[in-house]
Amino acid sequence: VRRVMTRAGIASGAEPVPGPAREFPYTVGDFRRIADILRNETGIALTEVKAPLVYSRLVKRLRELGLQSFESYCALISQADEVEERRVMSAALTTNITRFFREPHHFEHLRTVVLPPLIDLALSGGRVRLWSAGCSSGEEPYSIALTLLSLLPDAEHYDIKILAVDIDPNVLALGRAGLYSARAMADVDPAMRATWFSRAPQGETEMWSVAPPLRDLVTFRELNLIAPWPMRGAFQAIFCRNTVIYFDQEVQRQVWRDMAAVCAPGGHLYVGHSERMAGTDLFELAGLTIYRRAEDR
Ligand SMILES: C[S@@+](CC[C@H](N)C(=O)[O-])C[C@H]1O[C@@H](n2cnc3c(N)ncnc32)[C@H](O)[C@@H]1O
Repeated sequence: VRRVMTRAGIASGAEPVPGPAREFPYTVGDFRRIADILRNETGIALTEVKAPLVYSRLVKRLRELGLQSFESYCALISQADEVEERRVMSAALTTNITRFFREPHHFEHLRTVVLPPLIDLALSGGRVRLWSAGCSSGEEPYSIALTLLSLLPDAEHYDIKILAVDIDPNVLALGRAGLYSARAMADVDPAMRATWFSRAPQGETEMWSVAPPLRDLVTFRELNLIAPWPMRGAFQAIFCRNTVIYFDQEVQRQVWRDMAAVCAPGGHLYVGHSERMAGTDLFELAGLTIYRRAEDR
């Protein structure tokens, strides 16, 4: 952690966060209080290099609330009954970047290795559950669903479901709406787009809407990955990509342990391109950033 140094050594927190002149007073201590609350709420650990980013993500909220300083915002979010404002703050500070078919090799593995036996299971009346954990605005769970539909176009007639969870209600609303710009759709194969999306008539910008068979495969739910989970599993495939990377190592390890508990024996876990599950015997490596839960656990 890079601390701002003063003559007395480590900064006391009363000095302003270095940077250009700002509309609202914003001290190192304010940043630390916000970072502590964020870590408690979401598991996300911010270092002090992120202090200017925190200012730019929250400044609009201070204006909306008519506050005069980050100190008063910190006082507000520290109140026990301000649960909702802490959620608003957390949503403003999460990184939601995503895209359709991000890490194409994951979807290739899903299509060729994981889904064929699961489709056989579904065709013989079995239950198939897939999970996108940290689903952001829906591109990831819909990519899972599109991969499934490419093999089983009438998937809706079987007991197959994709659970999509995120802590941020704003991105969940986008996922449920299922409306994507032409730019976002550039990552979707045109034939897939023609079959499973319809051109939305509204406005001048080209927008595409997910068609009912695609929409119906995905259920969006608000869930905090660092709080107790209501579901027991067992998921045959879990996508948890670019989400726990923002957590401390120890919190990450706990999430992987919890995921192992809800992953079916032999089930797969896909992680982000720069994530590694070091020092765990819960999963074995099954490919580049792909893990497999041992059968006998
Ligand atoms: C960078 S996006 C990754 C989206 C997608 N998995 C991908 O790889 O394209 C990370 C998502 O994790 C969510 N997130 C962060 N902390 C979370 C938590 N504690 N519980 C659930 N979701 C969380 C954020 O809201 C954000 O939408």
